[in-house]
Amino acid sequence: MCGIVGYVGPRRAAPILLEGLKRLEYRGYDSAGIAVGQGSGVLASVRRVGKIRVLKEAVPKSLEGIWGIGHTRWATHGGVTEANTHPHFDCSGKIAVAHNGIIENYRALRGMLSKEGAVFTSETDTEVVPKLVAKYYEGDLEAAVKAALAHLEGTYGIAVIHADEPGRIVGARNGSPLIVGVGENEMFIGSDVMAFISSTSRVVYLNDGEVVSLDAASFKITDRADVQVDRKADAVTWELGEIEKDGYPCYMEKEIFEQPDSIGRALGGRLDRENATAKLGGLNLDRRFQRAVSRVSIIAAGTSWHASLVGAQLLESVARIPASAELSSELRYRNPVVEPASLWFAVSQSGETADTLYAMREIQRKGANVLGICNVVGSTIARESDGGVYVHSGPEIAVASTKAFTSQLAAFYLFTLHMARMRDMSRSEGERFLAALASVPDKVKETLGGRDRIQAIAKKYSRAGDFLFLGRGLLYPIALEGALKLKEISYIHAEGYAAGEIKHGPIALISGEVPSVFLVPHDPLREKVISNIREVKARGGPVIAVGIEGDEELAGLVDDFIPVPAMDWRFYPFTMVVPLQLFAYFCALELGRDVDQPRNLAKSVTVE
Ligand code: F6R
Repeated sequence: MCGIVGYVGPRRAAPILLEGLKRLEYRGYDSAGIAVGQGSGVLASVRRVGKIRVLKEAVPKSLEGIWGIGHTRWATHGGVTEANTHPHFDCSGKIAVAHNGIIENYRALRGMLSKEGAVFTSETDTEVVPKLVAKYYEGDLEAAVKAALAHLEGTYGIAVIHADEPGRIVGARNGSPLIVGVGENEMFIGSDVMAFISSTSRVVYLNDGEVVSLDAASFKITDRADVQVDRKADAVTWELGEIEKDGYPCYMEKEIFEQPDSIGRALGGRLDRENATAKLGGLNLDRRFQRAVSRVSIIAAGTSWHASLVGAQLLESVARIPASAELSSELRYRNPVVEPASLWFAVSQSGETADTLYAMREIQRKGANVLGICNVVGSTIARESDGGVYVHSGPEIAVASTKAFTSQLAAFYLFTLHMARMRDMSRSEGERFLAALASVPDKVKETLGGRDRIQAIAKKYSRAGDFLFLGRGLLYPIALEGALKLKEISYIHAEGYAAGEIKHGPIALISGEVPSVFLVPHDPLREKVISNIREVKARGGPVIAVGIEGDEELAGLVDDFIPVPAMDWRFYPFTMVVPLQLFAYFCALELGRDVDQPRNLAKSVTVE
């Protein structure tokens, strides 16, 4: 989704803004632009459709100016054109605005401002903002922005500059993240820390309803009631090295191969061997309430929802607590029943997904505890949840989520162990569960050793137009995840199904041209899945199976076999998702796709 960066300080702004925009590329965008103050009552601006490198080539090397803003746009209102690219301006060209979010009443505002003589040059909702700021500007940008905000309905994170106020940036947040970066005699503003992480790791998170006014030396935050807020800077723990490709051709491959380490970090310090349980420091829940929890409900979107589906099954089967996982975009609008002894989770890699955030707020309004399972420290869901678990995957930059998924699984396995040990799970069973969980990083590492075989299989099948991904039980969500990965980055149509469901419809799709990918663990459902494979083979469908090393019967039955190491069957979601991530990745490479930034997708979906 859209990204914002702003800079004020002693250095030339343009290269810093361009670097910030480059680091925001991963969020997904279709056009980008910058506006830089020239100190002589004018703003210089360059905007381009396409990649940041196109913008960079268009920005004159000699462009001076020590303060400015930049934006990557992911089109919502109006097509992908230069005119719609941010920053947007008032009629004098002196006020520039970069905006994330959606101004819902922009039509009415546009009508009002047009009647007053404003001339609009774009189709965006954003353009009403600089026009409104101009309407109220009387020599004080902060005051004018506050007056303009009073008219806006919807969501925004904005950064505003005025040519006549050198060295000042005003930002405001309502529903779209905005963060101040505090440097040495220089300040930054950004929609996420990536925008300025190479310059500073000291950050100040804004809350909804707050306005910030910054210059090179200081920042001032005021709340909705216009009362000044005293807020200290936090330290961001991500290192610059973590956001480099580190010798890999792209971030997705790097992130897939990082999983033994990232899962290890999610588990780090949380395995309590002495008591055969898990320690989760951030739950913030009274032990009596934890013991009394009678239902766990989980909300999430996309890949995080798939991890949540595994989590819900696990909680139910291992901890014997009724549990379900629901799409946050659905839950939000259906007035769910929130029981007093229910515990909720909001799961989000970015911690900024609008659907999940709004659903979480609705559940909290109804009085429930909502715990967050997030990766991005300081993100809105992490800050607004009542407690939770950071998964510590490190920055996930490829749009398609991989390492965050397996770390979310780790968080659910830990929580399940903790809750099960508070209930009926014996010490010896706790020890077995804990040992299997501790072995996951090594098993994932072994699975990654199958890379070349998976690449060869991907090469063989990458021209197919449709795929089915099939699994049962804990592996049904993994089938959904495998299909999603393939769709996202290769643009091949794929559907994930519960293997037992195929004869209720999808089997009609089976032909020599439609490969099926089956997940076949050694678990209580193995024989059932083998029967499903026979049904597909009988109809001429090619079958790829992800199964257990040494499973000769399976290897002999299918066209292509991808082995994963044997382990406690409840833990196969960790290992079986890995070949599917690699399969999608290699198919996408084979087809020449932009793996890290697939078309139309955004990393952090901050609008509904
Ligand atoms: C899939 C993917 C998306 C996200 C979804 C939720 O690869 O990245 O489906 O999982 O947009 O995002 P978060 O987890 O940030 O809430």
